Amino acid sequence: MDHFVLKQHETYCEDVPLARIAQEFGTPTYVYSRATLWRHGQRLLDAFASYPTLPCYAVKANSNLSLLREIFAMGFGADIVSLGELERSLKAGADPQKLVYSGVGKRRDEIEAALRRDIYAFNLESFAEVELISSVARELGKVARVSLRVNPNIDAKTNPKITTGLFSTKFGVVEEEARAMAERIRQSPQLSLVGVGCHIGSQILDLKPMAEAARRLADFAKGLQALGHELAFIDMGGGLGIRYNTEQPPEPEQYAEALLSAIRPTGLRLLIEPGRVLVGNVGILLTRVIARKQTPEKSFLIVDGAMNDLIRPSMYDSFHDICPVAEHTADLEKMDIVGPICETGDYFGKDRSLPASLHAGDLVYIRSAGAYGAAMASHYNSRPRAPEILVDGAQMKVIRRRETLDDLWALELN
Ligand SMILES: Cc1ncc(COP(=O)(O)O)c(C=O)c1O
Repeated sequence: MDHFVLKQHETYCEDVPLARIAQEFGTPTYVYSRATLWRHGQRLLDAFASYPTLPCYAVKANSNLSLLREIFAMGFGADIVSLGELERSLKAGADPQKLVYSGVGKRRDEIEAALRRDIYAFNLESFAEVELISSVARELGKVARVSLRVNPNIDAKTNPKITTGLFSTKFGVVEEEARAMAERIRQSPQLSLVGVGCHIGSQILDLKPMAEAARRLADFAKGLQALGHELAFIDMGGGLGIRYNTEQPPEPEQYAEALLSAIRPTGLRLLIEPGRVLVGNVGILLTRVIARKQTPEKSFLIVDGAMNDLIRPSMYDSFHDICPVAEHTADLEKMDIVGPICETGDYFGKDRSLPASLHAGDLVYIRSAGAYGAAMASHYNSRPRAPEILVDGAQMKVIRRRETLDDLWALELN
């Protein structure tokens, strides 16, 4: 459920008409609903309330400082993958003891910064990382808490570009190697093994692979404990899918049960790293029609948003619902909704049924743009990045201003 609804023939975000946002801040613009964010966050927290769980929000999904502040205020920690995400999270008030650092290629300077900040744990993804973190910790005179990211070779049954739990991907290590890493960690006074984990993919709609991965990790953790390793947690990553179109994603309670039925008997703390499920349906991309165009084969609706603002349709072929802001009564017509960028791949939707009466100046909005929207935006075609507006009831706040032309080349001037 979200708070983008049609009231008296026009679409609102909570109590603010989208048309007013467009009028005040221009288009394209990301619009987020605070009530939706809190609802999604609270549902997730409630689902895991019966068991010691640390939810670490995957900052990569949307890293806006104001959204991070809200998420940390709900009690979430963060899953970070870069120095930028570390510093962003701390700026937004994250508790360092609720930060886990993931990623297959952490640089020495990134490890050093995270160690200085005394984060909760590093998720290790290779033998080389054991040596690297151990050496950085030695230089700093610190002990690094580390966790082993296992690759369980389980197919998450999602888009291949966001499948991360198979041996054909770069992520994690096989169990045998993870056990050898655990032995090496035991010998290093600079390292303390505190957990094991995995992350098998994103936009997962079938809980079976998740449940299977949880069972495998629970068994793996028990094996390490039998060898005398004192673990504190199992990190099951993120990945829960959301509804973009007609998908029926699992409810948070079903997700919790799928994980907890395997993790509960271990008694270990559970970590999860939700991203999309928290923020995906919190945001939309508001855009204005520039022109209608007809070719011998197709009808196009050209809008002022583009693939640089929301790359998911071009990159993953993913579906985003597209709706007119004002109610139209005209018959529907099939059209492609495209941006102004010089690529045929610059589209938001193909063969969509939208009102035939849509014309230049009308507003349309692209749903489910809260996750991997602004976070993946670029300047491609020298387009300044769109602003982000947070709506709270009848209030609206600019949480990232629109970039200016000067912003485009500011870093290129001597
Ligand atoms: C290690 C890790 N954790 C969490 C996530 C978040 O995934 P999602 O947004 O699907 O919840 C990702 C996404 O790629 C990830 O790589």
